[in-house]
Amino acid sequence: MPPLRSLLFLLAMLLMIVPSLQAMPITIKFSHVVAKDTPKGKAAEFFKQRIEEQTGGRILVKIYPNATLYGDRAALSALQLNDIQLAAPSFSKFIDHTPQLQLFDLPFLFRDTEHLHRVLDGKVGKKLLQQASIKGLHALDFWDNGFKQISANRPLITPEDAISLKFRIKSSKVLEAQFRTIGADPQILPFSEVYSALQQGIVAGQENTLSNIYTKRFYLVQSDLTISNHGHLGYLLVTNDIFWQKLPGDLKLIVSEVITETTNFARAIATQVNADYLKKIEASGKINIHHLTPDQRAVWQKKMLSIYPDFYNLIDEELIKQSQK
Ligand code: LMR
Repeated sequence: MPPLRSLLFLLAMLLMIVPSLQAMPITIKFSHVVAKDTPKGKAAEFFKQRIEEQTGGRILVKIYPNATLYGDRAALSALQLNDIQLAAPSFSKFIDHTPQLQLFDLPFLFRDTEHLHRVLDGKVGKKLLQQASIKGLHALDFWDNGFKQISANRPLITPEDAISLKFRIKSSKVLEAQFRTIGADPQILPFSEVYSALQQGIVAGQENTLSNIYTKRFYLVQSDLTISNHGHLGYLLVTNDIFWQKLPGDLKLIVSEVITETTNFARAIATQVNADYLKKIEASGKINIHHLTPDQRAVWQKKMLSIYPDFYNLIDEELIKQSQK
């Protein structure tokens, strides 16, 4: 081919390729460990739908639920390497990254969801978002699940009933102390291993929200469920710096707006989703359910509150006290 013709040919090829490169959508891989029909699973689906609508397909979201891609620990490493762009692990999973987030594991810290939201939306929440935006991660927002309940292979009405029982816990020093203070034996296990650990008797009990207890079928391998509402389970939505810094400004704005919309969506549905799962667990007739009376609950509370001073250094006494208000 004479030089001018080959140059023109090359130019024509380039002109064909460049617009298609420009039109290539950005893909956000979002990995999480829970079922689709949970507050987090539903929030992820809502986020995907709204982002794809609002960006006209310039951003696509691929969701990997049920730990099909990564468990929580691996997801945080994958996020730092930009192998995924979004994750929403529960606060306890940030133990090596931002131990201050264990604030949310403190038992009986929040009276109700309004109290929790006041803390998340106020100075404490802002400070924690800053503290978690390190080591390549960029903290975006807090998503709700709900209050935790305790299941076991025997009735738990008083804290003494849990003495010597092995409980599965998340990787949290606070949760470890919470179970040790009632004489139980906490064992750290990833979420994806809880069902088989309960089924095989490797652990005798666990604590979680009703949505996780139902969708992961823990209620089928436990004899008793105590409605204790003793602690809260929530999530930190995180991306990574590599992805966030490269995202064009107009798309960043849309993503930020959709995140706020999704947080509000998750807040609006979470309590009801968990309440609906309680009805399903009741209707199954597969597990004995015990609702603690206020007096019975107060006994658990008194015992568990005793661990707070042990965390004044690790979490920050001031953060704890501000959150208690
Ligand atoms: C757990 O490990 O029990 C929870 O963090 C799972 C989740 O993400 O709700």
